Amino acid sequence: MSRLDSMLRRLTAQRDGLNWAADQISPLTGDVLDMGLGNGRTYDHLREILTSRRIWVIDRVLQCHPSCVPPEKDFLQGEAKPMLEQLAADGHKIALAHYDFGFGVKERDVAEAAALSPVIAQVMAPGGIIVSGQPLTGFEELDGPAGIPPGRYMFYRAE
Ligand SMILES: C[S@@+](CC[C@H](N)C(=O)[O-])C[C@H]1O[C@@H](n2cnc3c(N)ncnc32)[C@H](O)[C@@H]1O
Repeated sequence: MSRLDSMLRRLTAQRDGLNWAADQISPLTGDVLDMGLGNGRTYDHLREILTSRRIWVIDRVLQCHPSCVPPEKDFLQGEAKPMLEQLAADGHKIALAHYDFGFGVKERDVAEAAALSPVIAQVMAPGGIIVSGQPLTGFEELDGPAGIPPGRYMFYRAE
């Protein structure tokens, strides 16, 4: 498969997964969390499909497209672990989390996702859904929407 095809499939899985999760959380109360602002594409999509939810965003840098800058009060700029600990300490509960941190080095990305899993669990509302580009640990794994090949994008439910 060409790298172009591979990228298109990953982005399609990401979008379809977020749309699916937005539907799944309709009975739940709680906020949304985008882990990894990056260019702001997934943040922009989340705010389009979940207009009535507060959307928190974590990233160590603010380097997104100018049209996708989150409100200052919802952007937690810093390293993931302390930012997640701050969210948990402030009592915020997340109904839908999207995990998109990464350096692009698979082993390192998988290790970081595993290391952050316990603190992600602390911010999740019971039954909340996590859509993730990396494997997480300690959550119930879900099938997610039809048509996404196993391992391309991952779906979890919090206890
Ligand atoms: C793949 S990009 C996110 C792409 C974004 N979701 C989008 O759609 O444009 C990953 C982002 O995560 C951030 N990041 C990676 N590891 C992090 C960490 N441990 N703490 C905070 N930010 C991190 C990077 O700065 C980068 O902007």
